[in-house]
Amino acid sequence: MANLKLTKIRKSYGAVNVLHGIDLDIRSGEFVVFVGPSGCGKSTLLRVIAGLEDITAGTLEIDGRVVNDATPKERGIAMVFQSYALYPHMTVYDNMAFGLKLEKNNSKAEIDKRVREAAKILQIEPYLDRLPKALSGGQRQRVAIGRAITRDPKVFLFDEPLSNLDAALRVQTRIEIARLHEKMHGTTMIYVTHDQVEAMTLADRIVVLNKGNVEQVGSPMDLYNRPDNLFVARFLGSPSMNILPARLDAAPEGVAVTPEGGARLSLALPYRGAAGGNGYLGVRPEDLVPVQPGQPELFRGQVTLTESLGEVTLVYLDTGRGAEPVVAKLPGEVRLERGSTMGLAARPEALHVFDADGRAVRGARAEAVAA
Ligand SMILES: Nc1ncnc2c1ncn2[C@@H]1O[C@H](COP(=O)(O)OP(=O)(O)O)[C@@H](O)[C@H]1O
Ligand SMILES: [Mg+2]
Repeated sequence: MANLKLTKIRKSYGAVNVLHGIDLDIRSGEFVVFVGPSGCGKSTLLRVIAGLEDITAGTLEIDGRVVNDATPKERGIAMVFQSYALYPHMTVYDNMAFGLKLEKNNSKAEIDKRVREAAKILQIEPYLDRLPKALSGGQRQRVAIGRAITRDPKVFLFDEPLSNLDAALRVQTRIEIARLHEKMHGTTMIYVTHDQVEAMTLADRIVVLNKGNVEQVGSPMDLYNRPDNLFVARFLGSPSMNILPARLDAAPEGVAVTPEGGARLSLALPYRGAAGGNGYLGVRPEDLVPVQPGQPELFRGQVTLTESLGEVTLVYLDTGRGAEPVVAKLPGEVRLERGSTMGLAARPEALHVFDADGRAVRGARAEAVAA
């Protein structure tokens, strides 16, 4: 059990500022995922929490105690890296027992108990006598996780632990990590990935990082449904949200949005830019449907490409704006000729409006109405 409190954490390497003041509260037993593009500072933040890097400024507290100067061991933290870093000449058992043997005070029986418990949790009991080279990549990564479990940490840190595995193993090991968190309830886990699917599926809460800053913190569905800004809107979801430049004007209902190449819509959202201005309209591919008679049309355009994925068909529409095509995720049975024209609509509640700075214009979405 451990909760963590990060207050204005900064990290610089010489003149290079990598983390710009991170504030974050992590509750005991929570599974938190740090997600963001490569180079945004995820690993640095994890290593700062682990105690592998010193903190340039700010404080890190674990259970109310400032641990800025504590060693990783004193912090009760174990970390699993992308590369498994197992000792090749040692059996799985010895790899898992190695750290425990180095510590004084651990009896042989105690070490044995802890190794076997961890092996059981990870279902690697049959492999305890094998050398790492006789294991698959996924099994090796489980041994690396097992080694961390034997240390009975209060906080578990993972840095992209699945990125060296092939696609099928990645999914399987991801599910195992989710189970591990259930089995070890009480253990706080922080998991770093650049993969939004891992973030969505594993996290109690996601922290979206961008260039050393936190963009948004929230539950996966909260971030998905209510992104605070364009960065988060684009980062989660595949294919990503369609974002179109739009004209925003104050309207009696709230705001009138006119996307480039699209119709004017009135939405009941609080809009403070009274004189009007530029902004963006966002709509996810799965929220678009072929327009029905009597329904307001959002876009009309020419089909430039369709991709049949079986369960869904992705339709790319050129709306004549000369910009990126609009992507719609339609049912798998939909067949459309390239070059044909179609109109798309969306429920008003599914529309996202952003101001010129990319910040969400938001209010009571459920009350949004189309003009
Ligand atoms: N030891 C270091 N010295 C200088 N710059 C570093 C060092 N470690 C990381 N950085 C820089 O910090 C930034 C964030 O790196 P990192 O935390 O590894 O990103 P991520 O894990 O999100 O891909 C990068 O621009 C990287 O070049
Ligand atoms: Mg990294």
